[in-house]
Amino acid sequence: MVIPMLRKGSCSFLWLLFILSSCQNSSNDSNIHWQTDGKEWLLHGLDLKDSRCSPLDQINTENVDSLGLLWSYDLGLKRGVEATPIVSEGIMYFTGPWSKVFAIEATTGKEVWTFDPEVPRSFGEKGCCDVVNRGVALSEGKVYVGSFDGRLIALNAENGEKIWETLTVDQSKPYTITGAPRVIKDLVIIGNGGAELGVRGYFSAYDKNTGEMRWRFYTVPGDPSQPAENKAMQNALSTWTGEWWKYGGGGTAWDAMSYDPELNLLYVGTGNGSPWDRNKRSPDGGDNLYLSSILALNPDNGELKWYYQTTPGDSWDFTATQHIMLADLEIDGKLQRVLMQAPKNGFFYVINRETGKLISAEKFTYVNWAEKIDKTSGKPVEHPLARYASANMDIAPNYDGAHNWHPMAYNTKRQLVYIPARETYSNYGKSLDWEYNTAGFGSGAGWNLAIGHDPGVPTIKDSLMSKKGKLIAWDPIAQKEAWHIDQENVWNGGVLTTLGDLVFQGTADGYIKAYHASDGSQLWQAYLGTGIMAPPVTYMIDGRQYLSVLTGWGGGYGMKNKHTPTIETGKVFTFVLGGDQKLPKPDVAQDRRPIKPKWEIYDYEANIGAGLFNKYCAVCHVSGNGSGGVAPNLAYSPHIGSPTFDKILLEGLLLPNGMPSYQGRISEEESHAIQTFIMATARVIK
Ligand code: HEC
Repeated sequence: MVIPMLRKGSCSFLWLLFILSSCQNSSNDSNIHWQTDGKEWLLHGLDLKDSRCSPLDQINTENVDSLGLLWSYDLGLKRGVEATPIVSEGIMYFTGPWSKVFAIEATTGKEVWTFDPEVPRSFGEKGCCDVVNRGVALSEGKVYVGSFDGRLIALNAENGEKIWETLTVDQSKPYTITGAPRVIKDLVIIGNGGAELGVRGYFSAYDKNTGEMRWRFYTVPGDPSQPAENKAMQNALSTWTGEWWKYGGGGTAWDAMSYDPELNLLYVGTGNGSPWDRNKRSPDGGDNLYLSSILALNPDNGELKWYYQTTPGDSWDFTATQHIMLADLEIDGKLQRVLMQAPKNGFFYVINRETGKLISAEKFTYVNWAEKIDKTSGKPVEHPLARYASANMDIAPNYDGAHNWHPMAYNTKRQLVYIPARETYSNYGKSLDWEYNTAGFGSGAGWNLAIGHDPGVPTIKDSLMSKKGKLIAWDPIAQKEAWHIDQENVWNGGVLTTLGDLVFQGTADGYIKAYHASDGSQLWQAYLGTGIMAPPVTYMIDGRQYLSVLTGWGGGYGMKNKHTPTIETGKVFTFVLGGDQKLPKPDVAQDRRPIKPKWEIYDYEANIGAGLFNKYCAVCHVSGNGSGGVAPNLAYSPHIGSPTFDKILLEGLLLPNGMPSYQGRISEEESHAIQTFIMATARVIK
C-alpha cells in the first residue's frame, strides 16, 4: 500500500512541474516529456516511455462511432508510408516515401512547407524493404530527418530551409536510413539499415546545433587485425568465428531507440546478422554480440552500460529493432523500472532497465524455433533442428517477425500492451551455393541471406503453424494474453491507445478501426482507400481532440502484396467527432488477365531467366500467382515481350518511380530470358 501512495504523490508533483515547465518552454527538454498532457505529439512514441498512450479522452468508447473525416492531405507519392507525425504548436511534421518532409496545419491540413532531400532514385534498390521513412524529430525550432541515402539533415521548422546536413554512411555500401532520429539533450541519434545486403551496423550521435559527430557505436566487431574501437568491441570479439567482417556482420540499428532521463540511459535495438545463416557468417558458432540485442548506453559518450541479447547467434533474421517501451511495473511486490520489447522472435520480454537483467519472457504468438527462454541464463532453449544445418525446417515466426517495426502501445490504465502481431512461418534451409560478393545487392550480387533449400535433406513440418494477422492485448505483468483479434492479412499498422479506453489501428485492407481497450470489441471503422502501415496519433487544439493517420502502402511485404483493389498515393486523414467530409469509396479491382506468350518458351531459357529473376527482381516483384504490390505482378504486365520492357529494364524508363535501371548489369539476351521466365509463370496462374 505504501508504494502506490508515495507514487501518487510524487506523480502529481511531477505533473505540476511539467505544467509549469511546459508553459515556459515547449522545446524538447527531456524532463518535460517523461509525462505528457497529450495535447501535442512531440516525440516519436508520444512520451519518453514510448507508451503511445494518449491521456486524451474526449473521444471515448461512448462517442467514437461519431468520428468523421475533417480533412485529408495528399502526399502525391506512391510507395510505403510508415511515419509517426509530430504535432507541435498547431503544425504537423511527417515524412513520406524517399524521405520527403511535410509540414501542414494540424487543424486544416493546409500545407505550410515541404522539403525534398532528392534521394537519387538509384538508391531505391539498396533497401530490403521499400523507400520508407518513420518520421522526424523536432527540437528547439529544428526538424531532423534521416534520408534514405544516409544523410542526417536539420531543417528550420518554420520554413523547411536546410540548416545543416551531414553524411552518416559510406555511400558505396548498401546502407540506408529509414528510422526516425531521436534528440537526447544536445544530441541527435541516428542508426541505419542494410544487414540484408552486407554491412557493419552502427549508430551515431551528432551535435544537434552543428551536425558535428560526437560519437559512433559499432554493433558488431570489425576486422580483428585492426585495434578494437572500444571495450565493448573487444568483449564481443570472442563471440565471433570465421571471417564475418568481410560480409559486414550486420546488427544494424534501423528503428527502435528510447531514453530514460533518470538513469541517463539510451536504449537501442539491433538487427539481424549479415548474412542470415550463422553457419556462413560465423562457422564455428558463437553468440555474435551484439546482433539482435538491446543495448543500454550512456548517451553523453556512447559507452555501453549493459546489453541483453534476445537471439544469440541469430540465423533467422530475428531483429531486436522493435519498439522499446519503458514502464514502471509492480512485479513480485516491488515497483520495478522495466523495458518491454516484442521482437521478431516471438517472445515478449520484460527486462530490468537499470541492470539489463531478464525479469520474464513468454511467447506471444506461435513459436517453434525455441521452447522457452531460460530464466537463469536469459537465453533461449532452441529446437535442436532450428539452425537448419541438417534438415530444412518450417520455422515460426518467420523473417518478417511475430512483430515487426509497427509500434505497439501501452495503456497505462489497463496495464495492457497492444501488439500489432503476425502469426507466420517460412521454410529455412542451408544454401549450397552461397558465396559472398562484395559488390552487394545494389550492384546486382543478390541477397546475402544464405538460406536456401538443400533438396537432399528432409523438411521438418509443423502442423500447428498458421498465417494471419493478430492484434494482441498483452498483460506484461502476468506475461499472458488478455485478448486478441484475428486478422485476415498479416501486415497491419502500428497502434495507438488512449485513456478514452480505445485502441486505434489501420489495416492492410485500408481501414482505420477503433477497438474497446478492455476486450477488443470493434467500435468504429472508416475505409481510407489504400493499405495502412503507419501508427495513428491524436492531439488536442483549442479544446478539440483530433485523430490522424497516414495511409500509404508498401514496405518489404507491400512491395509484393496488396489487400486493396488498387494502391493509391499516401494521404493524411484527420478525424474529429462529428466530422462530415467524404471518405474514399472502395475502388473496383481492374479485370486483369495473365499475359500470353509472345514467343516460344524453351525450358532452358526460362531456367536461366528464373535464376536472374531471383537474383535481381524477386526482392520487389512476384511473377505468377500472387497479388503483386507496389511493384506489380509481372505475369500481368503488358510490357512483357514488347520493346518497352528493355526501355524499362535497360534504360531506366521507370526509374523516377523507383524501378531500378539494370543498364550494364543485364544484357539484352538476359532480358529476353527473364521475359521468357515471366511468360512461363503466366501460363500456370490458377
Ligand atoms: C527495388 C525494387 C524493384 C526491383 C529490384 C525491381 N523492380 Fe521492377 N518495378 C518496381 C516498381 C516500384 C515498379 C512500379 C513502377 C511504377 O509505378 O511505374 C516496377 C515496375 C516494373 C515493370 C513495369 C510493370 C508494369 O506493368 O507497369 C517491369 C516490367 C519491371 N518492373 C520489371 C522488373 C524486372 C525484370 C526486375 C529484375 C530484373 C525488376 N523489375 C526489379 C520495383 C522494382
